[in-house]
Amino acid sequence: MASQAPRRVFIKTFGCQMNVYDSGKMLALLALDGFEATDNWREAEWVIVNTCSVREKPQLKVASFLGPILARKRDKGRPLVAVAGCVAQHDGAEMFRRNKELDLVFGPDGIPRVRELVATAVHRRVLDNHFLEVADYPFVQELVPSAGQEINALVTIQKGCDNHCTYCIVPSTRGAQVSRPASQILEEVRGLAARGMRDFTLIGQNVNAYGTDSNQHPSFAELLCQVCEIPEVWRLRFTTSHPRDMGSDVIAAWAALPKLASHLHLPVQAGSDRLLRRMGRQYTRAHYLEVVRGLRAARPDIMLTTDFIVGFPGETREDFEQSLSLIEEVRFDAAFSFKYSPRPGTAAIRLKDPELPPEEASARLSELQQLLSRLQRESNEACVGRVFDVLVERPSRHDPEHFMGRSSCFRAVNFPGEPSLIGTIVPIRITRAHPHSLQGELA
Ligand code: SAH
Ligand code: SF4
Ligand code: F3S
Repeated sequence: MASQAPRRVFIKTFGCQMNVYDSGKMLALLALDGFEATDNWREAEWVIVNTCSVREKPQLKVASFLGPILARKRDKGRPLVAVAGCVAQHDGAEMFRRNKELDLVFGPDGIPRVRELVATAVHRRVLDNHFLEVADYPFVQELVPSAGQEINALVTIQKGCDNHCTYCIVPSTRGAQVSRPASQILEEVRGLAARGMRDFTLIGQNVNAYGTDSNQHPSFAELLCQVCEIPEVWRLRFTTSHPRDMGSDVIAAWAALPKLASHLHLPVQAGSDRLLRRMGRQYTRAHYLEVVRGLRAARPDIMLTTDFIVGFPGETREDFEQSLSLIEEVRFDAAFSFKYSPRPGTAAIRLKDPELPPEEASARLSELQQLLSRLQRESNEACVGRVFDVLVERPSRHDPEHFMGRSSCFRAVNFPGEPSLIGTIVPIRITRAHPHSLQGELA
């Protein structure tokens, strides 16, 4: 029997690691119907845009990305076009009504059903953006079709978020927290390990609250132990953590589990208690600092990264200076910082205080970023002369005789080497620091 030509799907991913993971799962499911990924949307039968609405900017990017695709659809009648993810969940009905070229609009809870959604939407337009209210949320177990040699893998451990940070749209795009059964998580890790993955990142919007939505799950700290027991797991990371839920059992894991990577991303958002309260974060500056002290006691060389929001409604110069002083006090190794972006339906847009004038917010953001860049540079410079165990990932993009890998603390390290080192851990002595990476040589 002649083999059928593959059907082509182009998936464009915006947003966080959840969306990266979800796009992989969509591909894994669609592969069962003969789909293969293409990186040229013009030759695709289906274009799926997996969207993010966390701030206005990523949402605008979605609109401008879709423009030429929808224009071609109007002209030529193809490709079939789907909008998935967080924008689809939140604004899907409106998008579907306005853009007659859209064949399919579905939110994150539609991902497990992507095969039937796509099959139906070939015949008639489909809008599917309600949350799955089921006892057993159908986390997708299919693994992404093999994509060459890769070392790093994401594994989801929960969906949704039960917090109510007043600025955040995510609870309304992803729904309530549901923890994935540990047996499924371990099965996925083992499956990926069998394909050569060695560096695993457990993902969720608030991984430290893993298991709290049902009494059938182990605690997050127990889950970390179980994953570390798998021999092929060389390194384990997780993201994102909420400072309120950083329990002492999780902090102690950095002392007990050598495989736990020497890196934690712990978004703080602001340094002033007044703002933290208004953001609905449910911790104080003092609590955050106590967690940091605990982490550094358990793993002295831990790399700490964070997120800040600048220009939250009612942010005074004094509040802002408390963010600056917190940065100095913790000495973060790196951070993301964002100008506050009002999101529809969130509690913060009902706050009575005026937003900062945009010029003032931009000036504060750049002041904060300058401080963070200086600390990041100093943090990287302090690595010169140290030897890191580097898990080698791939040839360097600039020089075929150089290779790139990551330290346990997730710093990118470039060094001269050979292809046989890919997939192994080698000791590298750091010789130079760049703003976003390190240079070294085999030690
Ligand atoms: N669940 C994670 C991350 C959520 S979104 C957490 O709790 O930290 C990633 C980052 O985007 C947040 O940490 C925050 O810094 C930023 N962010 C979220 N909503 C925002 C908004 N409305 N305006 C500006 N930044 C925002
Ligand atoms: Fe948003 Fe807060 Fe949940 Fe993070 S913890 S996803 S910032 S509501
Ligand atoms: Fe964006 Fe949705 Fe992630 S809003 S940050 S893609 S959870």
